[in-house]
Amino acid sequence: MIDIFDLSNKVALVNGGAGGIGSGISLGISQAGATVVIADVLHIDTLNEKAAEIKAATGNETMALNVDVTNEKSMQSVVDAVTEKYGTIDICINAFGLNIKNPALEYPMDQWDAMFNINVKGTMIACKIVGKLMKNKGKGSIINLSSVREVRGYTGGNSAYCATKGAVGILTKTLAIEMAPHNVRVNAIGPSLIITQGTIHIQQNPELAKKYKAETPLGRLGKPEDLVGTAVFLGSEASSFITGQTIFVDGGLLAS
Ligand SMILES: NC(=O)c1ccc[n+]([C@@H]2O[C@H](COP(=O)([O-])OP(=O)(O)OC[C@H]3O[C@@H](n4cnc5c(N)ncnc54)[C@H](OP(=O)(O)O)[C@@H]3O)[C@@H](O)[C@H]2O)c1
Repeated sequence: MIDIFDLSNKVALVNGGAGGIGSGISLGISQAGATVVIADVLHIDTLNEKAAEIKAATGNETMALNVDVTNEKSMQSVVDAVTEKYGTIDICINAFGLNIKNPALEYPMDQWDAMFNINVKGTMIACKIVGKLMKNKGKGSIINLSSVREVRGYTGGNSAYCATKGAVGILTKTLAIEMAPHNVRVNAIGPSLIITQGTIHIQQNPELAKKYKAETPLGRLGKPEDLVGTAVFLGSEASSFITGQTIFVDGGLLAS
């Protein structure tokens, strides 16, 4: 039987691949057979270490590259380096992001611009440059990291974050329509709270952790591993008739 979830023979570029969610997804899709390229703004030595750890754990090919997704030349040079080594990019996961929280009425507009620069412009640049390669190859799957904040607002200084994720959601749909004639699919994963370095303080604060668990029907906090199944699904042939969707991985939050 053919395994429709198998990612063997697929090359996956994970932008923001050294972050909390990016690292978890990179390991998971490597376990599913993919060749994984970790691209991130962090120092190349750190990226090489992460790539080596994944290769040691799964036995599958990995590569590490430095990228600034807000810079078209930087993104293009990553795509060139990956295609030179592996010939193609079948899956692109955009797992970078920024969240600067400020009360809306005090929000400094330079910080607002920084949020849109990374979360929205960075997503557009990655989709545009990888999308061109995928168009030429006649196939591909792009997966953007959105959030439950794409469709549900939140308190706590999250106006810029929610606005950027709303933008990522509609950008995903629009790119999906434009790229569909080229057999390139564009979808998003919309997590609720996932415990990473940036959110570990929530897990460590009993009151906060209790609040988040209480608003989540499945009654627990999310982990990067919780996103792996959806990433494998969206990257694989199993989802070949799905494009333009945000799949919310939220323990039931948006259902309540
Ligand atoms: N964690 C959650 O609860 C949660 C929930 C819903 C959605 N999300 C979304 O999931 C994505 C990943 O979140 P995360 O928690 O894994 O964040 P993270 O741990 O901060 O990882 C993001 C990674 O992206 C890198 N990055 C930042 N700017 C970049 C740029 N210009 N070019 C390339 N890489 C860049 C970061 O590097 P630096 O560390 O050097 O900046 C970091 O390694 C984000 O889009 C986030 O909004 C997260």
